[in-house]
Amino acid sequence: MRELEQRIKSDGVVLSGDVLKVDQFLNHQVDPDLMFAIGQRFAHLFADNQITKILTVESSGIAPAVMTGLQLHVPVIFARKHKSLTLTDDLYTADVKSFTKQTQNKITVSKKYISADDHVLIIDDFLANGQAVFGLLEIANQADLKVEGVGIVIEKSFQPGAQKIKDQGIRLESLAKIKSLANGQVTFVTEQHD
Ligand code: G4P
Ligand code: NA
Ligand code: NA
Repeated sequence: MRELEQRIKSDGVVLSGDVLKVDQFLNHQVDPDLMFAIGQRFAHLFADNQITKILTVESSGIAPAVMTGLQLHVPVIFARKHKSLTLTDDLYTADVKSFTKQTQNKITVSKKYISADDHVLIIDDFLANGQAVFGLLEIANQADLKVEGVGIVIEKSFQPGAQKIKDQGIRLESLAKIKSLANGQVTFVTEQHD
């Protein structure tokens, strides 16, 4: 998505350790017009999949997920993050390790809001190691629902998450694919022209 790549080039900041900071439009300040365009793109890509729910993880996945749900006219559920949990009877839970933050969280979704009839689209802001997506897939599996695909705003293609998702035969649509952040420079896998 050209508009997104241009925004990453102009307002993204490459930090050490292969981290791209996009606080100016996605992870802290949010640009609603750009998020709307992102939602439109995901809605278009998955228009024929009879999506019934969008599933994401708090917090940064919520903006693109809501904009997608707005345009597909379906509810958006964000998994919550917890350090520890006691009562889990009415919750689906999965473990998510964060490599960048060296933390381990549980993510949960209430059993009330997803069911076996659902056709779900998973949305997230970043795909790096894939821990967040695999946590959501684990919850989808527990709920026995159908995952129609995964939509990612920014994929770091040089990290293993994208390949791991595709290896499972799951459809992956990433709007910007980063080949490298070496030397403080953002290089995309393919420059998009739409
Ligand atoms: P992953 O396995 O889910 O792909 O992520 P990883 O543990 O590698 O990264 C942990 C957190 O850092 C995730 O956010 C992920 O989205 C985010 N992340 C990974 N690489 C980058 C990057 O280059 N730039 C930015 N800005 N974020 C990155 P989180 O902490 O789970 O979510 P949230 O609370 O920010 O939504
Ligand atoms: Na995220
Ligand atoms: Na994040």
